[in-house]
Amino acid sequence: MSLYHSVLRPLAFMMDPEKVHELAMGMLEKGFIRAPEFREKRLEQTLFGVHFPNPIGLAAGFDKNAKALDFWHQLGFGFVEVGTITYHAQPGNPRPRLFRIPEDKALINRMGFNNDGAQKVATRLASAKSQVPVGVNLGKSKITELAQASTDYQESFRLLHDFGDYFVVNVSSPNTPGLRALQEKGPLLEIIHAIREVDAAKPLFVKMAPDLEFSALDDVIAVAHETKLTGLIATNTTIGREGISHDPGQAGGMSGAPLLTRSNQFLSYLYQSCDMDMVLIGVGGIMSGADVYEKIRLGAHLCQIYTGWIYGGPKMIPAALKQLNWFMRRDGFESIAEVRGTAHTK
Ligand SMILES: Cc1cc2nc3c(=O)[nH]c(=O)nc-3n(C[C@H](O)[C@H](O)[C@H](O)COP(=O)(O)O)c2cc1C
Repeated sequence: MSLYHSVLRPLAFMMDPEKVHELAMGMLEKGFIRAPEFREKRLEQTLFGVHFPNPIGLAAGFDKNAKALDFWHQLGFGFVEVGTITYHAQPGNPRPRLFRIPEDKALINRMGFNNDGAQKVATRLASAKSQVPVGVNLGKSKITELAQASTDYQESFRLLHDFGDYFVVNVSSPNTPGLRALQEKGPLLEIIHAIREVDAAKPLFVKMAPDLEFSALDDVIAVAHETKLTGLIATNTTIGREGISHDPGQAGGMSGAPLLTRSNQFLSYLYQSCDMDMVLIGVGGIMSGADVYEKIRLGAHLCQIYTGWIYGGPKMIPAALKQLNWFMRRDGFESIAEVRGTAHTK
């Protein structure tokens, strides 16, 4: 058993989860945490003009303020998504707002988009030197009325558009009142058009909630095709509590192992409903390289992880990449593109 699993994680899990997050970020932004490198040609891809050294990225919400951007490659990540960033800096919800369910390898959070605001994060991004592609995830400021949402996203994008390889319209967090109503066709179109007015060339994604009915998902897919979106991210956390052995009775979005089945169903549906050139990023419940392999087989070009990394520790990403590579070799695949979608053809 590694030092992380035998000593560090048990100690960390005795402390408040957000305090541990802050301590970890303090070390990460100084570059103090590293993992052994795992590189393999088979895992590299170029998508929408961007080169990804491997398909496993850090999901939004961990490095909300882009503080450790220079170092994420040291942990093995093939890309990083910063944010969610809102136009106005905001403190988020009152603490405690992050809860562990260790028996189920899950988390519940109701952070509420705590972040430094678009201006400050733009300044930080301008001097960052990430060695892997960077996604920038945008959300609506809490003080902005829903009717003014598109302007809020637009203003953030105006400040940030030079600093990301791709951008994400996050309309799927359960922790900003009313936000998820922006997944409806009209409001979503308005936000995408407002962003495109500033810079139509930037790769743009929409991140979705796993709690959408498939009929509502069809609307998002229609908008994605109509606006020639670069891709879709499936999924954010769920307000459901399926798959946990005990419910701690806390409001918020659940992530981690119990989310895997639902987010994989979503991904499958997207793969079967979208044009082939729609880039799909699979996120939700990844705990191992086998889970990454399965998401790619279901249709993901790229994957992201948050909760599994907390439970798996700093060496998890290279281990997952190694396992993914092993599965690909075993099954005779030379590239991610060859693997993609094979779950639907057999
Ligand atoms: C504490 C926490 C904070 C998060 N904050 C954000 C966020 O700000 N924006 C966002 O799009 N997703 C956020 N997420 C969702 C993750 O990016 C991801 O979609 C979700 O956790 C499912 O992946 P996982 O099971 O690997 O954690 C957050 C998740 C957690 C656990």
